[in-house]
Amino acid sequence: MIDGLGDDTLYEAWLNRNAIREEFSDETFAFKQMDLNSGDAIALRIHKEIIEWLKRPILDDYQQATIIFTLEKNGLASDDAFRLVSNQSSMVISAQSQSGLLYGFYALIRERMLGKKNIRMVSAPDQTLRMIDHWDQIDGSIERGYAGASIFFGTPDHLDNPDKGDFSVLTVQGDPFRHDRVRMLQYARMLASIGINAISLNNVNVRSQGTDLITAPYLDGVKEIADIFRGFGIKIYLAINWESPIHIGHLKNSDPLDPRVETFWKTVCDGIYHSIPDFGGFVVKADSEGEPGPYQYGRTHAQGANMLARAIAPHDGLIIWRAFVYNSHQDWRDRSTDRAKAAYENFEELDGKFDDNVILQIKFGPIDFQTVEPLQPLFGKLTHTNQMMEFELTAEYLGHQIDINYAVPQWSKMINFDTKHSNFADSKAGEVIKEGSVKSQNSGFAAVGNVGMTPFWTGNPLALANLYGYGRLCWGNQLDSSEILSEWIEQTFTETKVKTRQTIFEIMVESNKTYRNYTAPLGVGFMVIPHYHYGVSVNGYEYDKWGTYHFADRNGVGVDRTQKSGTGFTAMYSPEVARMFEGLESTPLELTLFFHHVRYSQMLSNHKTLIKTIYDQHFAGFDTVSKYVADWSMLEADLPVDLFSEVQNRLKQQLENALEWRDQINTYFYRLSGIPDELGREIYQ
Ligand code: GCU
Repeated sequence: MIDGLGDDTLYEAWLNRNAIREEFSDETFAFKQMDLNSGDAIALRIHKEIIEWLKRPILDDYQQATIIFTLEKNGLASDDAFRLVSNQSSMVISAQSQSGLLYGFYALIRERMLGKKNIRMVSAPDQTLRMIDHWDQIDGSIERGYAGASIFFGTPDHLDNPDKGDFSVLTVQGDPFRHDRVRMLQYARMLASIGINAISLNNVNVRSQGTDLITAPYLDGVKEIADIFRGFGIKIYLAINWESPIHIGHLKNSDPLDPRVETFWKTVCDGIYHSIPDFGGFVVKADSEGEPGPYQYGRTHAQGANMLARAIAPHDGLIIWRAFVYNSHQDWRDRSTDRAKAAYENFEELDGKFDDNVILQIKFGPIDFQTVEPLQPLFGKLTHTNQMMEFELTAEYLGHQIDINYAVPQWSKMINFDTKHSNFADSKAGEVIKEGSVKSQNSGFAAVGNVGMTPFWTGNPLALANLYGYGRLCWGNQLDSSEILSEWIEQTFTETKVKTRQTIFEIMVESNKTYRNYTAPLGVGFMVIPHYHYGVSVNGYEYDKWGTYHFADRNGVGVDRTQKSGTGFTAMYSPEVARMFEGLESTPLELTLFFHHVRYSQMLSNHKTLIKTIYDQHFAGFDTVSKYVADWSMLEADLPVDLFSEVQNRLKQQLENALEWRDQINTYFYRLSGIPDELGREIYQ
């Protein structure tokens, strides 16, 4: 049994080097019609992957090789697309650009590690931009990071990421970069193997010296990272502080219509591109949760974004502008404001007003990465705006990578949700973001990252399935989430018995639903401990300023977002979808309390009353976690010791968490409603 960490090597996740080397031990490689001396970073990287990583030879005569790379115009849909064709003696990987060859190379490894024979495939990514946004901070901490310190920032002895609650950033003396090249290289390889082609390095809340990352001498550290990721086809982005003109440029304001502000940004962009000619661009959180933005100057977000877009356009850079803008100083007494409407209200009227190198990055749901949310209604409404859909891999509301939660089914549901907007050839969300974009190449998916310095990258080793699955979903929107999970398990647990892999699959495949079962019921959201967002606190946010209320009283619970009697949020969808959410019976069960205030005795579409549904789900959620604990304990002999106990320790915490959620939620609703459990299960008074 190989120890999960190896001796001095990093945990390699689904790219188990020894197993892959064994699988390819008879192969020889060659390049046809490719000049490896052209200096192309990706071609050089493929070369190194073969010689150094696989430890296989590259032959001069391609006719002697068993795996041949061919660069050719082959009519494929995009530069990232590739074709794999095998005949009796060789396998040909062809593409029209180096990036296509790179993806073809990793796809071949995947298919072979999954035991496939006679591989023939043509594959093109569904989304052009496939991005991870790190919320890493310059002192090595990570906002909402649950896997230790940043892999990019911090010092070798700084591996932890203590939750400081307020996410303040310590002042850094000297060089803030970690310079862990080996780790970055392995991370880049993992990302490229699942098709990721963009990463943003730092937190969208740009605090302290993080603001200075866009200038010297910090740019040297950014350049070092860009140099590593370039060969893997991954561009580097930085989140910027809207007030940089004041903090760095010593200007009096950051008004987008002030020519001095525009000149400041032009100078900054020139400096960045001088060091990193293929720099991706900026990610911007403005006028959101206390961050500054154009509203301060009475300007629109289009005016703000377009000013930056003009500064970066000469370098072909992008401005990724976040649509997560809402009133975070709401009064809970005010029932007329509905946070779910905020992104729509702020951005719908700006459709068509953004420059073509601006992309609106929009969270998949209207609130904030909850366990269940409907699709954000802007998708399908925007028809002349570049768009990206944003997900959160780091499990902020999904159990902090303590609780097992394979979230890919939830994301897949969002991507494949049919918006029913009639003006699109295909009205599924993953498609309308492309069709609704001015330049379809400036669209795609982004997700908040979930790795850190913990031994297995993501704290809980099983949370790596979310990183893997996200990449695979970006590439193939229709891929089945269970199949993605099987793929990940097959490649990760290469040395285990079939039964072990089956057990891991069974634990994980519905773990997202399990988590949903024991936490806030039926889409009502936010019953978590404030700010920390792990563990139950039914009323933690109920009288707060954040606009996230459940409105439970003695008769019922839930937010009425209907047009008939509520906030009218449902009207923001296409007529057909609006009708579905408007009716209690036609609303998907899991979203019942997101859209409706429902009496406890009301019969739901599952033919149970609301109160019984709440009780049943919470008992079932806890029972399932108990089963996870028992099932996992059976795997001890067949798994690396460190990996086994990492998961086991977390499962113990998950069980305590599920118990607390179950009992507090059930007791809370029992006390309010006075309705006992029909089945006589124990509900505390
Ligand atoms: C959530 C999260 C914040 C984060 C924000 C964002 O609200 O709790 O930590 O800054 O999302 O996406 O900007």
